[in-house]
Amino acid sequence: MNLFEFFRGNYLVGAPLAGITNYPFRKIVRKYHSGLIFTEMVSVEGLKRGNKKSVKLIDIHPDERNVGIQLFGGEPESYIGAVKFLNDNYSPFCIDINIGCPVKKVLKSKAGAYLLTDLKRLESIVKTAVKNSRFPVSVKTRVGWDDKNHVYKEVLKICEGEGVSFITIHGRTKSQMYGCKVGYNSIAEMKSLARVPVIGNGDVVDLESFELMKRTGVDGIMIGRGMMKSPWIFDAITKGFDPVGYLSGNEIVGLLDEFLQEWKLFRNSERYLEAFKKFVVWFSKGYRNSAEFRNRIYSELDESELMKEYRYFYTK
Ligand SMILES: Cc1cc2nc3c(=O)[nH]c(=O)nc-3n(C[C@H](O)[C@H](O)[C@H](O)COP(=O)(O)O)c2cc1C
Repeated sequence: MNLFEFFRGNYLVGAPLAGITNYPFRKIVRKYHSGLIFTEMVSVEGLKRGNKKSVKLIDIHPDERNVGIQLFGGEPESYIGAVKFLNDNYSPFCIDINIGCPVKKVLKSKAGAYLLTDLKRLESIVKTAVKNSRFPVSVKTRVGWDDKNHVYKEVLKICEGEGVSFITIHGRTKSQMYGCKVGYNSIAEMKSLARVPVIGNGDVVDLESFELMKRTGVDGIMIGRGMMKSPWIFDAITKGFDPVGYLSGNEIVGLLDEFLQEWKLFRNSERYLEAFKKFVVWFSKGYRNSAEFRNRIYSELDESELMKEYRYFYTK
């Protein structure tokens, strides 16, 4: 497959989001987006043993297309077993390696953004994944560890040298976490140097931020938190609209009703309501009186009260 061509026709990409981009959420997103979307990051240590919890995070249905599986882990050898497990059990669009996660537990295992400080290890991981995978391998990285250590050009060189198929860059350092402005210049520079497709990531939430990212010249644009709040953002932006106000209140209610049932199944009806409330609140961001709505949602509500509450909020 020519990936430049693929991204020309599928310019927007759904980001990996831990705890979020699992099957129920992807099913909702799929109503508005047929292009690439990623699973949340899955540990190579769990996956190489076929660990149940890790496998559940993937949960790709046979008719689901264009899903990338994201892996994290710091031990190159562990990628052999993990990739083999994927080779034997799935047909993803690609296998992605996480080189940007700033969470302490992940850094401690020499994975995620830690790899920005140990390029030899990164090289070895990428080499092992590419050598063993029957699918394209991609990476998702940040600009560097901190402002004094921008390593994205080195990361690009290593990844291209090892046969990575495309690269996503979140335009921030690890130290910047999710704060401050996204660095468009680093993204544009990576694009100008790369031979493989480059996907730009960071702060795309509406048409204005989409246009800013587009100016970097990237081959595709990845959306994370914007998708969390508005799974319909893909459709809205493609058709030239901002996501807030794009769907009618009734449409959002229908979406939440459907999502609730899927979510409940996914959680085996266990402690599903608290986590679901987060989605209800995120979807309301940007709508009038959403702060007040949030307080009501997070108060003691059972399932039917919750449904009544969001029905009222969106359709009153
Ligand atoms: C709740 C949450 C979970 C995330 N989980 C992952 C993950 O599993 N893997 C990953 O590479 N990035 C993860 N990220 C980072 C996003 O994929 C993305 O790079 C970042 O949010 C910036 O893009 P955005 O401004 O469009 O959200 C996560 C971000 C958030 C907010």
